[in-house]
Amino acid sequence: MFASFATTPITPFVGADVEGLDLGLRPLNQTQIDDVLRALSMFGVLRFRRQQLDIELLKRLGSQFGQLHIHTGISGMAEHPEVTKIYSDENSRHVNGELWHSDLSCDEVPPLGSILHMMEVPTDGGGDTAFSSSYTAYERLSEPMKRYLEGLTATHDGGVAFSRFDPDRTYPRAVHPVVTHHPISGRKVLYVNRAFTSHINDIPPEEGAALLRFLCDHSERPEWSMRFRWEEDTVAFWDNRCVQHLAIWDYFPQRRLGYRVQIAGDRKPA
Ligand code: SIN
Repeated sequence: MFASFATTPITPFVGADVEGLDLGLRPLNQTQIDDVLRALSMFGVLRFRRQQLDIELLKRLGSQFGQLHIHTGISGMAEHPEVTKIYSDENSRHVNGELWHSDLSCDEVPPLGSILHMMEVPTDGGGDTAFSSSYTAYERLSEPMKRYLEGLTATHDGGVAFSRFDPDRTYPRAVHPVVTHHPISGRKVLYVNRAFTSHINDIPPEEGAALLRFLCDHSERPEWSMRFRWEEDTVAFWDNRCVQHLAIWDYFPQRRLGYRVQIAGDRKPA
């Protein structure tokens, strides 16, 4: 299916393991980059095991797919503002991504994807990330519901996700269609999520709240979700245009450490 590597699906609807690509050895060639982008648009999230990366190599990897997107909700590392440190231990009171979300859907142009390199996993297990297919979520809606959603938009508000961490900061807000198309696959996507979507526009608030609750519950169903199991030196590359994810914090007070970059999108969700 791909010239540069082999893929094995993790579940029928979301995720694939990739073998045969060393992400840190040397810059990827154009065939490899195109294959990764195509695989992402098919599987939503790719898992690469046994990848030796440091922060510079992670940044180099990410920047081969586009400009690095500075996180608009939480601060990056002091020396590497494009890199988000994902860290928790016995002193943590929260972790990143505790609600289902598509990264920074509150931005006018959200990042097209994110790459997370896991350096340290909880020794007694736990710390999976759950991913769900927003393609399948759309496709499994009833036909009358699909017709109802056509043309609706929703507001995505960074304050919903981040203001509990820093209420004094201002966060981006953006309006996106409820149903979008993936620019590579052309498939339709259900594009609302629990962490960022504050309301559906232009319908009565009670109707919008009930609809949003239903669409979020539907997006998160286990039938089109999977648990991504990490090992040290595993890399996840996910496509924010067709999956949502959730960090499962079931390992407190153990430690977990990774570094993440976001790849800037090249267009508004449409
Ligand atoms: C996130 O990007 O939401 C964090 C994912 C994780 O830590 O598993």
